[in-house]
Amino acid sequence: MTLVLGIESSCDETAAALVADDRTILAQAIASQDEAHAPYGGVVPEIAARAHAERLAPLIARVLDEAGVSLSDCDAIAATAGPGLIGGVMVGLVTAKALAMAGDKPLLAINHLEGHALSPRLADPALQFPYALLLVSGGHCQILRVDGVGRYRRIATTIDDALGEAFDKTAKILGLGYPGGPAVERLAASGDPRAVALPRPLLGSAEPHFSFAGLKSAVLRAKERQMGVSAQYSTDQQAGYSDADIAASFQQAAIDCVTDRTRRALADMAGVTALVVAGGVAANRAVRAALEQLAGEFGLPFSAPPLALCTDNAAMIGWAGVERLAAGFAPDPLDVSARPRWPLDPDAAPARGAGVKA
Ligand code: KG4
Ligand code: ZN
Repeated sequence: MTLVLGIESSCDETAAALVADDRTILAQAIASQDEAHAPYGGVVPEIAARAHAERLAPLIARVLDEAGVSLSDCDAIAATAGPGLIGGVMVGLVTAKALAMAGDKPLLAINHLEGHALSPRLADPALQFPYALLLVSGGHCQILRVDGVGRYRRIATTIDDALGEAFDKTAKILGLGYPGGPAVERLAASGDPRAVALPRPLLGSAEPHFSFAGLKSAVLRAKERQMGVSAQYSTDQQAGYSDADIAASFQQAAIDCVTDRTRRALADMAGVTALVVAGGVAANRAVRAALEQLAGEFGLPFSAPPLALCTDNAAMIGWAGVERLAAGFAPDPLDVSARPRWPLDPDAAPARGAGVKA
């Protein structure tokens, strides 16, 4: 059995997990920093880095203890080495280096996005390469063709905001606090998705890219209209819809965009064995249901990790380590750098409109 200690610290979750190559998660622990960042309505990098530094070592000790194993039982130490908030990434990576050195274990510097990309295979043994992956998180919104471990071709990306970011901003506009995704999903359940007319950016466009900035601005205008505070609208035009209606209308518009763009991408992706969704927004039940239906349109199986493996966690990092070892990738040197930016497909052409001249 191969046993990997996984460490995750790229954003606001400090996490450690022990994962085996038979897909068992022997133990895992996540310390969320939601409360520390809530007053600021988003993640404050300096606060995040400090919190990781305080929490990570005891968390690792806890998972080793819970699994009843010691460092010497681990076959490798895998840590997120990017992309993410650099202070936090460095805390996790340096900790992994110290453990690898002390225990004379291989170090695996994992791309956080690879962790998300392979996470569905941790829970779903039937999922084979190549698969079409919609990776939707707080910082990323991409469609990738996953041909194997370390073999990712980016088919589409967002030209402005990530999908999770759009959920978080909608939550902020509606005063739902941080993190916003789950709160928007909860509120949307009691709203009318047709109550507020919102745009569907890039719907039907020839390239499968995403855009959510216009949708976010429209949510803000809808909220202003509801409150009668927008300079553009006089109070007698106040709209009679609730916050739940705004949340439901936003979520529906976002889902319409995601399914349209993914449908566009799938039309050109020959030979994939499944449609897969991963990343924090994959925890959204309405998003999952829409994608499952879309997979059916193409006669493809649909796969999504269990909810706890969608948002940031260390099991997916440990699992990516397991997959890399099994695929024969060499361990990383102890001087490997943390990378704030680290695309899964470095050869992908920039999307037109993404702040880049065509
Ligand atoms: O993958 P993740 O935990 O961190 C990043 O790598 O970014 O994703 C976090 C994002 C946040 O934007 C959060 O609001 C969103 O995923 N999210 C959701 C849900 N749960 C988390 N968005 C919509 N519905 C959810 N249930
Ligand atoms: Zn993530």
